[in-house]
Amino acid sequence: MTHIIQSQDFSHSTLEQLFESTDRIEKMHKDEGAEERLEKLLKRKRIYLMFYQPSTRTILTFETAAKLLGAHVFKTDNAGFFSSAAKGETLEHTIRILCGNKADAIILRHQDEGAALRAVRVCEKYQFSTRIINAGDGTGQHPTQSLVDLYSIRKILGRLDNFTIAIGGDLAHGRTTHSLAYHLSKYTNVKIIFVSPPNFRMKSGILEHLQEHNVIYKETESKEDAFREADVVYWIRLQKEHLPKDFNSEQLMREYSINEAHMDLFKEKAFLLHPLPIDGEIDKEIDDHPKAKYFEQASYGISVRMALLCKMFNVEI
Ligand code: NCD
Repeated sequence: MTHIIQSQDFSHSTLEQLFESTDRIEKMHKDEGAEERLEKLLKRKRIYLMFYQPSTRTILTFETAAKLLGAHVFKTDNAGFFSSAAKGETLEHTIRILCGNKADAIILRHQDEGAALRAVRVCEKYQFSTRIINAGDGTGQHPTQSLVDLYSIRKILGRLDNFTIAIGGDLAHGRTTHSLAYHLSKYTNVKIIFVSPPNFRMKSGILEHLQEHNVIYKETESKEDAFREADVVYWIRLQKEHLPKDFNSEQLMREYSINEAHMDLFKEKAFLLHPLPIDGEIDKEIDDHPKAKYFEQASYGISVRMALLCKMFNVEI
């Protein structure tokens, strides 16, 4: 757990420890006296948030998590424009400077797949003890969002084994679905139904990984069939920032959006998750539907990231 780059690196037991710590933190948030105890855990650690792509939840939940644990947080949330990147500075130089400034951790969101790994290479080359967390690298991965997703399933469904999940939308570019699929391969008897238009299918390398780990999956274009079968439905938006500017998404949106009638197809206890933001693929009226759980899901973001930061710095909660 030196760096958090991709979800394949988490073992089943590490995930379980993280979720147990998250449970404890969730309880502590209800106990006023716990705040002071939490604040001591990462006291004076220097945590840098470098975000080259837009973010609301990830950046704010990381900032809140780090501050509640007593860390000093420094951030540039529009690094592509307001950091020296705008003047042509390489990511490697920026990371080297921050590490030299004694950053204990750098939480990095970047438009290029592999950016977090490049940051790790800088730390290794110059023997910096700074830890890197991947907060989304282009169309690569977003391992901390999928920790929130898994924790939500564990909490709402009550288990992470023996269930069927429909994962749908722009699977080619949706990094949260990539990280989630890798995580799910560690659990027993999880069946995955990938729902996407033909040009937006799950990456072949991830499908191979699932085969190697004996995960049963299928690919379909029929969201209706998937909704009838799934215990959990996980939906994402069309990742327009990775599509040509003149891409006409109207028909796709019609085919892949979810409305109230679709929710009636869900099994009795099934529910809908979404990493957010929603960009028209889920009708507004669904927000208050009893099976729509994406606001509950988002509410776990701070606690999950607090547990992760503590684990990374070997701090017991
Ligand atoms: C996701 C992301 O950035 O990949 N957002 C998030 O962190 N919750 C999903 C998305 O942007 O579609």
